[in-house]
Amino acid sequence: MKNKIIIIGGGPGGYVAAIRAAQLGAEVHLVEGDKIGGTCLNVGCIPTKALLHTAELYQRVLKGPTIGLDVEGVRVNWPVLLKHKEKVVTRLVQGVQGLLKANKVTVHKGYASLKDKHTVKIEGSTTKTISADKIIISTGSVPVHLRFPGSQLPGVIDSTAGLSLAEIPSSLIIIGGGVIGTEFAALYSSLGTKVTVVEMLPEILPPVDGQLIQVIKKELIDQGVTFLTETKMTEVKEEKAELAVKVVKDQKEQELRGQYVLVAVGRKPNTAKLDLEKVGINTNKGAIVVDENFATNVPGIYAIGDCNALTMLAHAASAQGVAAVEHSLGHKAHYNNKLIPYCIYTNPEIAGVGLTEEQAREQGIAYEVGVFPLAGNGKSVIEGCEKGLVKIIADKKYKEILGVHIIGPRATDLIGEATVAMTLEATAEEIIAAVHPHPTISEAMMEAAHAVTGNAIHWPPGAK
Ligand code: NAI
Repeated sequence: MKNKIIIIGGGPGGYVAAIRAAQLGAEVHLVEGDKIGGTCLNVGCIPTKALLHTAELYQRVLKGPTIGLDVEGVRVNWPVLLKHKEKVVTRLVQGVQGLLKANKVTVHKGYASLKDKHTVKIEGSTTKTISADKIIISTGSVPVHLRFPGSQLPGVIDSTAGLSLAEIPSSLIIIGGGVIGTEFAALYSSLGTKVTVVEMLPEILPPVDGQLIQVIKKELIDQGVTFLTETKMTEVKEEKAELAVKVVKDQKEQELRGQYVLVAVGRKPNTAKLDLEKVGINTNKGAIVVDENFATNVPGIYAIGDCNALTMLAHAASAQGVAAVEHSLGHKAHYNNKLIPYCIYTNPEIAGVGLTEEQAREQGIAYEVGVFPLAGNGKSVIEGCEKGLVKIIADKKYKEILGVHIIGPRATDLIGEATVAMTLEATAEEIIAAVHPHPTISEAMMEAAHAVTGNAIHWPPGAK
């Protein structure tokens, strides 16, 4: 008899889990209330990166005359850009729908809640119930909506609305200097918007390696972004068709003016309407509590992706989906929660995997650091993007790689090599032994490994 599995939520966690379950021979039912692809495909990773791609090209073209590219009258056509973004989204969503169909996954349109330990109620155009042995919850997350005086004003928006503004704003105040805040700051400042980021902590991008933060901050400041750290926003008012934003630093008040206020202060698990308590599933501040196999305390029910709040990243959700399905169907699953890369799509890009230098220090680990500035990398110089670096943190004794952090062109692609190397427990010497092709940005990875063990080849000894 076929195993039957119900998956609640069709984002990168749920749809990947559905395909994997089908590959393993299960009868799969996927329940989605909104659009297949979830936040990532529809209002997250994909549309943001589509906009950021054009914004980056625009900045490059503006510098065209210095590299022999005369361009006249270049400007951003915002309505066309928005249509292009929608086209990219539609194409990818249709692709996923096609994959689900090809894998014979039954998609139920409607919102699911738990009726009992094996039964899901689906409320769509009609209400129905389906039952299965295994249930995988992958309902993602929703933005945290702060309540403050003025939070309901029409110009106070979240990241979803920030992807479809009627025009490129003249000014934008972003509350929260995390990943979303920084990516939006990069996007709109590239397009000519005057951007101010208000962050309550002493630094933006809290978990990122400090050395990389300084590079991106300088780049964004040069592009016109103002960062107000250790600053709290207290109130927003509408004044003369503008928003007046009151912020406080060291008990001193300041007023900022902007066309829009984008609030990006984190996301929270989307679990409120699942009736988890009906079946006794344990939660912690809304996040579903799971074990190392993503199993909840109720046998047969799993929770993957943002709804368990372990690592709120699309690729983590997909990997957890595969692992949970494999475990639930009796296979051996692999998931290393210490090696989940992160990617930030600013210009230059930022990416990392494993320990940051700060974390290695805090954990009392004896480590070495190898840093290679991209100014010594031919391909980065050709591309006019030499302001970045590759940083490797390695264990002092064996030089096993503990963390890699990159800021520079295509950092988000390069981090794949680092992740594979760390999954194989590679040492710096092993990275060096793998000949890297020339001229490529990937050579910087090999050079950073050289820097761990002695000196980089293309950087003067002792130079910073
Ligand atoms: P976040 O947790 O990354 O950052 C939120 C920031 O807001 C923090 O720095 C926090 O200190 C600050 N903050 C909180 N309350 C504040 C207040 N009242 N005033 C000023 N600052 C305040 O959350 P974010 O940026 O909203 O992203 C949400 C999730 O989406 C994250 O888990 C992130 O990893 C994920 N994401 C990942 C992306 C990627 O991988 N490229 C892109 C976009 C989102």
